[in-house]
Amino acid sequence: MQVKVSTNKWNELTADCLVVGVKQGLKQPKGVLVQLDQMLEGQLASLLAEGDLSGKKKDTFMHYTFGKMNCKRVLFVGLGEQVTYETLRAVAARSIRAAIKSECVHVAFALDSLVVGEVSSGEGAHAIVEGAMLGGYRYKGFAQEERDFHQVGTISLVSQEGDLAEVEQGRMIGEALAAGTNLARELVNTPGNLLTPTGIAEAAVDVAKQYGMEYEVLEREDMLKYGMGGLLGVAQGSAEPPKLVAIKYKGRQTWDDVLGFVGKGISFDTGGISLKPREGMEEMIGDMGGAAAVIGSLEALGRLKPEVNVLAVIPCAENMPSGTALKPGDVITTMSGKTVEILNTDAEGRLILADGVTYAKKMGANYIVDIATLTGAVLVALGTCTTGVVTNNEEFVEEVMEAAAEAGEAVWRLPAFDPYKEQIKSKVADLKNTGGRYAGSITAGLFVGAFAEETPWVHLDIAGTSWAEKETDYSPTGGTGAMVRTLALLAAGRAE
Ligand code: BES
Ligand code: MN
Ligand code: ZN
Repeated sequence: MQVKVSTNKWNELTADCLVVGVKQGLKQPKGVLVQLDQMLEGQLASLLAEGDLSGKKKDTFMHYTFGKMNCKRVLFVGLGEQVTYETLRAVAARSIRAAIKSECVHVAFALDSLVVGEVSSGEGAHAIVEGAMLGGYRYKGFAQEERDFHQVGTISLVSQEGDLAEVEQGRMIGEALAAGTNLARELVNTPGNLLTPTGIAEAAVDVAKQYGMEYEVLEREDMLKYGMGGLLGVAQGSAEPPKLVAIKYKGRQTWDDVLGFVGKGISFDTGGISLKPREGMEEMIGDMGGAAAVIGSLEALGRLKPEVNVLAVIPCAENMPSGTALKPGDVITTMSGKTVEILNTDAEGRLILADGVTYAKKMGANYIVDIATLTGAVLVALGTCTTGVVTNNEEFVEEVMEAAAEAGEAVWRLPAFDPYKEQIKSKVADLKNTGGRYAGSITAGLFVGAFAEETPWVHLDIAGTSWAEKETDYSPTGGTGAMVRTLALLAAGRAE
């Protein structure tokens, strides 16, 4: 989707659809709508008078202009009573879906009718671009038969009144965040045979190359050298070789203040020898949602270019049962030296994250966020709309939660009191990889936290949020791209 800013007058536009905002309770054309009503020869006044345009938030009304304007259609969209940043994002998402239904290729947003009230033109442009790009995303899939897969090719933000420099800046931010989110969705939606650990690594490297970021890909030999027993252990049952990608986004002169992102990249999770039940196992193509979020955030950072250092570490493997797979009762040694007793081979994410976190520390990360589709238990605790958070640092978690609030992504903290740590102590090793049925998301998080040690660390469990069974305003079913925007805004918020 191409996004551009234009100062064209509405009657000069040749878009397939012009999106125009209508406030709730409006009885006759006012402000910028007066001019539109003149072009439409009084039709807008009639629609308002007849009560066809409720102006209720997100209500849409597709109006055909039949030659009265160069735009074939005007989509009236309700703004509700109070227009906020969030209103505009949701309104844009709804509008783009209505435009997709009418197979519009070029959609123009009449900014001067939409960005009203307290929202600045920059924020408004950001909200509209983000909402339109997120709401317009579809996964194409592989069916031979033509499906109703229509995508909008271009969106324009049309404004004569807004501060153009601000609008342009807002467009750039919205586009960066949405492009990152949609990239993560695409990766999550790609099936496990087509996105192997090697494929995840390639996707990460593609982004690094595109934005000139330094990167390295560790192979099995390198992992052996570092003693990455967690990542190697999980991968040993699969014919697919593991990969570990490390990417440096260097926004500063010196590499001393480094924010580390560690994302779980399990290309498919069968559970291994502790095999998962067959129902719903296909959703485990999304068990690389953490990796996808990290890759998506790099895409956003590559565009935003904030002055901050970010290290992305993405351990990738496939979790399979086989004659060479890990078994319950096995003991492995991680890169940190910590030994782990394997009780359940389906608790594989924390094993690869353990080595990922240790590697991130070695590479200079002094703050770490790990992000993973880690536990089914987080779905039980928080459902599908909220990401679970565990931390060892009050200040850092506040910062992450502020970024999430800014991104409009719901997160909730889980307690991490010392007694929970007892649940993952092993009799034969330093740790065991499951802490029993109770508080499963907390013990899983704390397992990863054991490898962060004293480094300020925040754990994000996106098992519930990275995959949607029902569509929402911003996302179709499947991959949601959860937390891409939070990670990107967290990093951008640290810029000097
Ligand atoms: N990838 C799963 C977690 C998951 C579940 C993600 C549902 C998305 C949706 C993870 O590797 C896993 O299997 N966790 C186990 C841990 C248990 C064995 C301690 C779980 O949640 O059952
Ligand atoms: Mn598992
Ligand atoms: Zn998993």
